[in-house]
Amino acid sequence: MPTPLIAGNWKMNGSLNLVESFGQALADADLPSRLEVALMVPFPYLEPAARALAGTRAALGGQTLSDQPSGAFTGEVSGEMLRDVGARLVLVGHSERRTLFGEDDAAVLARVRRALDVGLTPVLCLGETLEERDAGRGEAVVIGQLEAVADALEADQRSRLVIAYEPVWAIGTGRTASPEQAQSVHAAIRRRLATYDDALAERVPLLYGGSMKADNAADLLAQPDIDGGLVGGASLKIDDFLAICQSAG
Ligand code: PGA
Repeated sequence: MPTPLIAGNWKMNGSLNLVESFGQALADADLPSRLEVALMVPFPYLEPAARALAGTRAALGGQTLSDQPSGAFTGEVSGEMLRDVGARLVLVGHSERRTLFGEDDAAVLARVRRALDVGLTPVLCLGETLEERDAGRGEAVVIGQLEAVADALEADQRSRLVIAYEPVWAIGTGRTASPEQAQSVHAAIRRRLATYDDALAERVPLLYGGSMKADNAADLLAQPDIDGGLVGGASLKIDDFLAICQSAG
């Protein structure tokens, strides 16, 4: 079973003050011994967060990266730059990137490749819309998004993925997937991974994201195929985030 991972996704939120407060709180926290923690902060806060989180258990992550290594791409940030300032992970294919910034499966694959090329762990986000779920296509959409990336990778690259299932209808809405709904999709992802390789299915951490909070995390994390969480709103509140970390131990 993969080590549980709780990753906070600040999105376009936070401040230097919050970075400092998290650094202090995580340094003081008595976290479960079998737990990995990560914080995905906005680009300008990566460097201060690397300093604030030094000596804590939390790893640093970016929220996206360019599909190019360098060059005339105004406003973009490369995987190399993320590595340079201490990031170890990067979100790829978050539904907000897919819907608001037009990243399709090919764009997601290109970014996963870039992340792997520079030694970042890509946290590949998958998720169906409410319309797709209501039409009975939720699982097929999620598995299709997975295949669009995993089919194109080599076995050793697949084994370096983290996968986050984030039903779009549960993100930022306060409407969480029930533990049973989430477990059912996680199990389908695990089964699909096993068709590549049984060891891969056992090794790749499957995170749930979508309104994970201090009061529902334990039930979600108790599901056999939910190995952790990708936490948005609740990752901006230190007490809530630490409470979620405690329920993952
Ligand atoms: P949420 O966001 O926890 O605020 O629903 C999760 C995410 O989008 O990563």
